[in-house]
Amino acid sequence: MIETRGLTKHFKDVRAVDGIDVTVRAGELVALLGPNGAGKSTTLRMLTTLIPPTSGTATVAGFDVVRRQREVRLRIGYIGQGNGAGHSQRGRDELISQGRAYGMSVRDARARAAELIESLGLAEVADRRVSSLSGGQRRRLDIAMGLIHAPELLFLDEPSTGLDPQNRANLQEHILALRARHETTIVLTTHYLDEADSMAERVIVIDHGRIIADDTPQRLKDEHVGDRILLGFDAETDAAGAAGVLRAERQGKQVLLHLPDAPRRAPVVLEDLRAAGYPAAEIEVTRPTLDDVFLHLTGRSLREGGAATDKELVEV
Ligand SMILES: Nc1ncnc2c1ncn2[C@@H]1O[C@H](COP(=O)(O)OP(=O)(O)OP(=O)(O)O)[C@@H](O)[C@H]1O
Ligand SMILES: [Mg+2]
Repeated sequence: MIETRGLTKHFKDVRAVDGIDVTVRAGELVALLGPNGAGKSTTLRMLTTLIPPTSGTATVAGFDVVRRQREVRLRIGYIGQGNGAGHSQRGRDELISQGRAYGMSVRDARARAAELIESLGLAEVADRRVSSLSGGQRRRLDIAMGLIHAPELLFLDEPSTGLDPQNRANLQEHILALRARHETTIVLTTHYLDEADSMAERVIVIDHGRIIADDTPQRLKDEHVGDRILLGFDAETDAAGAAGVLRAERQGKQVLLHLPDAPRRAPVVLEDLRAAGYPAAEIEVTRPTLDDVFLHLTGRSLREGGAATDKELVEV
């Protein structure tokens, strides 16, 4: 569905996108993840024919994005960062006009609008003026606009930015449902690590215009960071004994164990230690987040401030 080779965009001396090779197969849901200015939007804008590459090539739905712009545009939907339908029209009319702009008949545009209004949960607000909709409703309408001509491929630039957690979850559900129903290939960008983690089966991490990782969220986490168990003991001698049993690192009264599938295996570890005579007093199981992956790859956190990891501290 998408194939790029050395895709590059320079703005004067800014290397916004610096040689991206990526292949996206039909039906995939791919999240582009990266800090501000990484080149995510610029990549989408080249793939949607809005700006020409400085060098390199890209084909979308089998058509070159420079030489076959029209064919590409007919097959894709694009919801830009902070888009927004017009304000004075009703949502339903916006959708129908958009369908007409893609060359659909009034009848087809109406039918398709009705279908999207239903599947995106807009039934109650479709006949209100767009200006009166909430942020979440408007974002869903934007997505309906991008889908009106039944594109094979949908690009969403930060679909959930600015939404509250409930609207965000709701939008994610709608995107997943749409995809299940229409088998649309979806490429989205996000700053929300949990969103990339839970929605996308493939995450492409971009930094300084380059791809620095590309895999399933689980494999990225396993490969770059892995699960850890931190055990606390009442005495250093117990910690030393436990470190020996587990063949793990010790520091003072603590032992750090790297262990895949740690939450499931932690009870067995505790049981083994008890049996060996070195019972743990405390346990902390840490599963990596995509932010830990980013931190590992770049030395920087994607999150501003705050801890990078979700932790659970449990008294034993
Ligand atoms: N039209 C432009 N002219 C000059 N520089 C640009 C232009 N568009 C983007 N850039 C620069 O290219 C780089 C990549 O920008 P881009 O918008 O692709 O980042 P992004 O990953 O989408 O960031 P964000 O997460 O903030 O949306 C940035 O340094 C940006 O300032
Ligand atoms: Mg952007």
